[in-house]
Amino acid sequence: MNKRLKQFMEEKLPLLHTHFDRLFDEKDVPETLRKAMAYSVDAGGKRIRPLLVLAVLEDLGATSEDAIRVAGAIELIHTYSLIHDDLPCMDDDDFRRGNPTNHIVFGEAAAVLAADALQTLAFEELASLAHTDPGTMIRILRSVSRASGAEGMVGGQVLDMEGEGRELTLTELETIHNLKTGALLSCCVECGALLAHATDDTLSALRVFSSNIGLAFQIKDDILDVTASTEQLGKTANKDTESEKSTYPALLGLDGAAGRLADHHRRAKEALLEAGLKGSLAADIADYIIDRNA
Ligand code: IPE
Ligand code: IPE
Ligand code: MG
Ligand code: MG
Ligand code: MG
Repeated sequence: MNKRLKQFMEEKLPLLHTHFDRLFDEKDVPETLRKAMAYSVDAGGKRIRPLLVLAVLEDLGATSEDAIRVAGAIELIHTYSLIHDDLPCMDDDDFRRGNPTNHIVFGEAAAVLAADALQTLAFEELASLAHTDPGTMIRILRSVSRASGAEGMVGGQVLDMEGEGRELTLTELETIHNLKTGALLSCCVECGALLAHATDDTLSALRVFSSNIGLAFQIKDDILDVTASTEQLGKTANKDTESEKSTYPALLGLDGAAGRLADHHRRAKEALLEAGLKGSLAADIADYIIDRNA
């Protein structure tokens, strides 16, 4: 990760974490539920989604007092999706973000419910933006709803589960990756741009950028599943082979997958040039997505 992105993270992540602490502290919810919700959120992770929201906002030369709230809400949705993804009825994983998974610690019922509550909390947060005009707030709400729901992440997760144990075509796999991972990442870019009141031209150039980094992110996730260790990832390595998932390395081999990754990275950077955002934080994040080793 380059120095500028590192500095940006060091500046923004403490703000995000203070926001989460405050959010969980002020909630009047049953204690076990509060603990289960906070457990997975506080475990950390790369925080790439909130960083993308904040980076795009900054790249577009804007600020918003609601930025952390929007960025945080998307991270809550992502965290809920991971809790469900790890359940025995889905990927059946017992290790996540360097810790035992939520259902291992709190039991399956509590894990399902904690994830449900994280999702509804996210929407409560997005409907509580005090410094954003109502039109922008509604656009943000619609963007996050679509990206995380049946036409986005949830739809992709269904297709991913249905694809287990059979070899998918590359087109089918690309659709799954775009939906289960790309949609929410694209939504982060869109929300940053909406908070910045970006023009339609900027929004459409950024859409090309985000669809490419979205796909790149999941291709890299597939590659790391094969090449990295459990310790390094903070989640179980080699899980995709075990679960008979179609992945980019499974379909194209590691070199083929790396080639696709590089193509999407190049296209993402070209789109940033088009948006007038060469040398931006968004560009740094695109580099980080392909260079990362966890
Ligand atoms: C993991 O996401 C699930 C995918 C969509 C690939 P991340 O790799 O962003 O997980 P964390 O947030 O860093 O734990
Ligand atoms: C999950 O994809 C995408 C989500 C929507 C959570 P994976 O199943 O590949 O994610 P990991 O590898 O368990 O993090
Ligand atoms: Mg999965
Ligand atoms: Mg999984
Ligand atoms: Mg994976």
